[in-house]
Amino acid sequence: MDIEHHYSAHMAETALLNTLKECYPAGPTLYQLAPIDQLHIGGIKASEKLLQQLEQTQPRRILEIGSGAGGLMRMINSRFSAEVTGIDITHRFNTLNRALTVLTDNSAAPVITCDAQQLPFADNRFDCIILQHSLLNIPDTGRCLQECLRVLDGNGSLLLHEVLEGPHSARMTYPVPWARSADQSHLITFDTLSTLLERSGFQLSTAENWSEEALQWRQRQADKEKHSEKSPAAPPVSPIQILGEAFKQMGPNVITNLSEGAVEVWQLSCTATL
Ligand SMILES: C[S@@+](CC[C@H](N)C(=O)[O-])C[C@H]1O[C@@H](n2cnc3c(N)ncnc32)[C@H](O)[C@@H]1O
Repeated sequence: MDIEHHYSAHMAETALLNTLKECYPAGPTLYQLAPIDQLHIGGIKASEKLLQQLEQTQPRRILEIGSGAGGLMRMINSRFSAEVTGIDITHRFNTLNRALTVLTDNSAAPVITCDAQQLPFADNRFDCIILQHSLLNIPDTGRCLQECLRVLDGNGSLLLHEVLEGPHSARMTYPVPWARSADQSHLITFDTLSTLLERSGFQLSTAENWSEEALQWRQRQADKEKHSEKSPAAPPVSPIQILGEAFKQMGPNVITNLSEGAVEVWQLSCTATL
C-alpha cells in the first residue's frame, strides 16, 4: 500500500467538516482542531516547542514538509508575520488543510502536492524548513535533506520533530499512525540521521531526546480516549476520522513501541552551512 493510500483510504473529510461546522458555528479554535490536525506524538504541545525555536530565529519564509492537515501551519500563521508554505504528498490532506483554514480566522497559505524528495522550488527560496513526523515516511532521507539544503538560504535553519529508530527496533509493532506495515515506515537511528545531516551540509545545533515526555503524553491521550467513549464532553472529532478504526490499535502500539525502545522521539535544530 503506498503512503497516500495509508493516509487517504479512511479519511472522512466531508463528515469531519460537517461536524466541525455544526459543533463550532463561530469556527473552531486551533485547540479544537488539534485531535485531527496535529497528527504527531505530543500533539499541540510538541508544536508549541517548535514555535519556541521559531521565536529565537524569527524566520521570514518558512516551508513545512509533510504538513498533513495543517495544524502547525495555522499556529505559525496566527502568531508570526512570516510567509508559510506547506507541501505534502497526500493530495487529500492538502485539500482538507485548505478547508480547515477556511473554517478558522487564519489567512490562506499555499499548500502544494509534491514529494519531499523532489521539491518544486528555486534554490535559496526559504530561510526555515520544518519536518514534524514526516521523515518517518520518506524512503530516501539523504535525498530529502539535500533538497532541503538546496531550497534553504545560507545559514537557514532546519527543525525536526521526528520518530527515530530505537535500540530495540526488532520489537516494532504495527500498525502505528504513520504506517500500517513495515514497508511504509522509514525510521533511521539518531546516529544515521546525524551522519546524513552532516554529509548533506547541516550543522546540528540542538538535539533533544523527547521519548519519555512523548510516552507520558501518549499515555494521557489513551486515558482521555478511554473515558471519552462514554463522555458527552468528548471532542467531536477524532484521529479515527483520518486513519480509520485501526487508530484504536495504533495508539496503544505507540505506547508499546516507546516503552520497549523500538522507537524514540527527537527534536533537532540544525543550520545550513553551505
Ligand atoms: C504522520 S503525518 C504528519 C503530518 C503533520 N506533519 C502533523 O504532524 O500533523 C506524515 C505526513 O507526511 C506526508 N508525507 C509522507 N511522505 C511524504 C513525501 N515523500 N513527501 C511529502 N510528504 C510526505 C504524509 O502524507 C503525511 O501528511
